[in-house]
Parts: sequence; structure tokens; C-alpha cells
Amino acid sequence: MAGWHEPVLVREVVEALVHRPDGVYLDGTVGTGGHAEAILGVLAPTGRLVCLDQDPDPLAVARERLGDQGGRVRFYRGSFSELDSVLAGESLVAFDGILLDLGLNSWSLAQPGKGLSYQLDGPLTMDLDPDLGRDATRLLAEASEEDLVRLFAEYGEVRRPRLYAHRLLRAREHRPLRTTGDLVRALLARPGDPGPSEMSRLFQAIRVEVNHETDRLDHFLERVTDWIAPGGRLVIISYASHEERRVKGLTRRGEGTPEAFRPLLRSPVRPGDDEVHRNRRARSARLRCFEKGGG
Ligand SMILES: C[S@@+](CC[C@H](N)C(=O)[O-])C[C@H]1O[C@@H](n2cnc3c(N)ncnc32)[C@H](O)[C@@H]1O
Repeated sequence: MAGWHEPVLVREVVEALVHRPDGVYLDGTVGTGGHAEAILGVLAPTGRLVCLDQDPDPLAVARERLGDQGGRVRFYRGSFSELDSVLAGESLVAFDGILLDLGLNSWSLAQPGKGLSYQLDGPLTMDLDPDLGRDATRLLAEASEEDLVRLFAEYGEVRRPRLYAHRLLRAREHRPLRTTGDLVRALLARPGDPGPSEMSRLFQAIRVEVNHETDRLDHFLERVTDWIAPGGRLVIISYASHEERRVKGLTRRGEGTPEAFRPLLRSPVRPGDDEVHRNRRARSARLRCFEKGGG
């Protein structure tokens, strides 16, 4: 169907993740279900896939797209950082593999009501998880100059974070920022300043902060050893350097213990030119795969 998110590195994900076709796997960021569909394509009739997303809207699309496949698939809404509570209804002990495909799904980006795109006018919400309780309007009303500088620099990697923080502070003195258009006008000094790539990175930085993306990834990485069976796999696709740093650090956790994670690939897998040509979003993707010891 037109508009589904186009998944990146699909063959590579399936090869890295599914080491036992009759195993039980988790797609912790199912989005509109592209990776999930490919994983189901190689699972045996006795294999199972649990699908999770924080955002009910793409999750509903995935549910409709995949169906229950004769009981092989189950869907849950919630954060991958809270698996114990989100999956309390599942009787399983631990997964044979978990996939996280971080970042934003392009289906959600195209929904004006989510306030994620600087190109679509809509309410300045950006909160993808209904449990969060703080949207972008509130964040931008309450953030200090130093908060804004930090998030623009760390999560957006923009070149002049303080300049944009000042522009926002000046704009909000006059009136609250309620729509994506208000935010664009606050950041824009003149046409082309900032340019499209800088503008989308400023939006990205605010989305990361609103959705607690780094805290949630940190919490997941702290707990993941409890959720994966010995010998099980963890596959993570990251798109930004703040994510990449965190994912790389996984092997330091539990170092020297029999159940520590070890990288299965010497360096991250990156999409080839063909894939980047087809899908621009793939250009910054990096796939890492880890195996839990003790198997
Ligand atoms: C890049 S998209 C995944 C696309 C998916 N692999 C596909 O093939 O369609 C990332 C998804 O992760 C979800 N997400 C981000 N952080 C999450 C979290 N902490 N818990 C659950 N889902 C999360 C987002 O809502 C988004 O739908």
C-alpha cells in the first residue's frame, strides 16, 4: 500500500536476527510492519513474532497489514524500554532475538496531526506515545536556553545551536508556539536560513527530547540481557550518532561475564548505493548485531 514506511536493510536484518526459524522474536519498533513481514516470511509455522510500537497509529496499520498469521503474531502498544510491564500478558521467558529499528517512521512523518514535519502545517505535538504527557508546545514553552542549546547540539547536531535557541526564545516572548508553522517561522531568519536539512535536524532534536528517545534506549540497553535468551540475538539499526554511541557501548555492559553480548559483525552494516538511491532515509542507517553469551 502506498505510504507504508519503506524498511531499510531488510535482507540483512532477517539474516542477522533469525538464527532459529522456530524461535520467538520481538520487533520492538514495528512501525507499519515492513521488517515484521520479512521476518514472518522466514519463520517456521511454529515460530512466533511479537510486534510492539509506542505509537498506536502505525501499529494499527501493521496489525491490519499482517493479521495474526494463524496465531504466530501478537501486537502490543508500549515502549521497548518497559517490556516487563508491556508484555505482562505473554507467558514467554525470553526472546531468541529482538529487533529495534530506531528513529522515525516515514508514515508518521507524513501525518500532519503528529506535528513531525516542518513541511506540513499541523499542531506542534510530536509526542508519539500517548503515555508521555508532554508535547513539543509545552517543551518549547518551558525549556531554558541551555536546554535548547544542548538538545539542538546533541540530538540535531546543528552547527549553530545557540543561534536557534535565541531565535526560539525571542519568538516565544511574543506568543506560544502552537503549530509547526509557528516553529518554522520562529527558527527562520530569512528564506534558506536555516536550509531544509538544518530545519529537519532541528525538528528531529525536539522530537527526540519530547519522546525521551535517549533515556528509553539507555533503559532498554540496561535491561535487555533479561529479555534475551542465552545465544539470542539483538539487532539494532541506528540513524544518529547519539544512538550509535549508546548501541556500541552495549558490549561494555556485563563484560567478562558468560552472558555478556558480543558483536557478531566487526563493523556496522550500511546500505549500498542502490538502496540509498531508492530510499534516501537509508543513507544514515547502521545495523549492528550482538549475540548474548551462554548459549
Ligand atoms: C523507523 S520506524 C520502524 C519501521 C519499521 N521497522 C517498519 O519496517 O515499518 C521506528 C518506530 O519505532 C517506534 N518507536 C520509537 N521509540 C519507541 C519505543 N521506545 N518503544 C516502542 N516503539 C518505539 C516509532 O513509533 C516508530 O514507529
